[in-house]
Amino acid sequence: MRKQIVAGNWKMNTTPEQGVELVKSILKGIGTHCGSVNYIVCPPYTHLSEVTKITRGTNIRVGAQNCADEAKGAYTGEVSAEMIASLGVDYVILGHSERRQYYGETSEKLNKRLNLAYANGLVPIYCVGETLEERESGKLWDVVKAQLEEVVFGLTDEQFRKLIIAYEPVWAIGTGKVATADQAQEMHAFIRKTLTVKYKELADKTPILYGGSVKPDNAKEIFAKPDVDGGLIGGAALKAEDFLGIGAGF
Ligand code: PGA
Repeated sequence: MRKQIVAGNWKMNTTPEQGVELVKSILKGIGTHCGSVNYIVCPPYTHLSEVTKITRGTNIRVGAQNCADEAKGAYTGEVSAEMIASLGVDYVILGHSERRQYYGETSEKLNKRLNLAYANGLVPIYCVGETLEERESGKLWDVVKAQLEEVVFGLTDEQFRKLIIAYEPVWAIGTGKVATADQAQEMHAFIRKTLTVKYKELADKTPILYGGSVKPDNAKEIFAKPDVDGGLIGGAALKAEDFLGIGAGF
């Protein structure tokens, strides 16, 4: 049985004060919703210190939305994996399509980030996914396979054991256009098959999350698919009720 995970990617939203309020509301609601679901919140860097403090000893874990591709030094504006981990953060989202698209993150840079994350005890949530054009031209399988081969295939078995994958079709992110449960399952099964080539039975344990316009009213159908182990949630993670409502989809 794989872990069931609902992770909230807050992106560049909320002030630190609003973020604390949001986490408090999630904590308040979680008593009735939690069950077997592992909830993770990924607020902006500026909130991490406070959010890790108020979630300590609770059922919510904390993740960052990125980390630097260098360990330390003269990299103005960057935040290192070590800094993040030292706050008690457990996870880090890497390779989100917005990072690839707007900040030119390449596989080479992502390899460095993943290694630094592991070196500091962080569990990466590595994102893959195709654009609409890539889907429509039938390139989706090659695109996702390359995103896996170029980054994940460099990991040792020990590192791979701690990896979470998020499949996020770019055309479904923030657009309200959700992939059908069957489209999600088809790609998740493909991802697992691709990972199995290198990591054999270990790939059976890898949580693969779906992301892209997940809401409380579509989560249940998507999560019911055998290779979907949860969700990476953007917009709907900014409301405690919706975030927990998605978790209730399991
Ligand atoms: P969305 O974002 O749920 O707002 O579509 C998902 C994500 O980008 O992780």
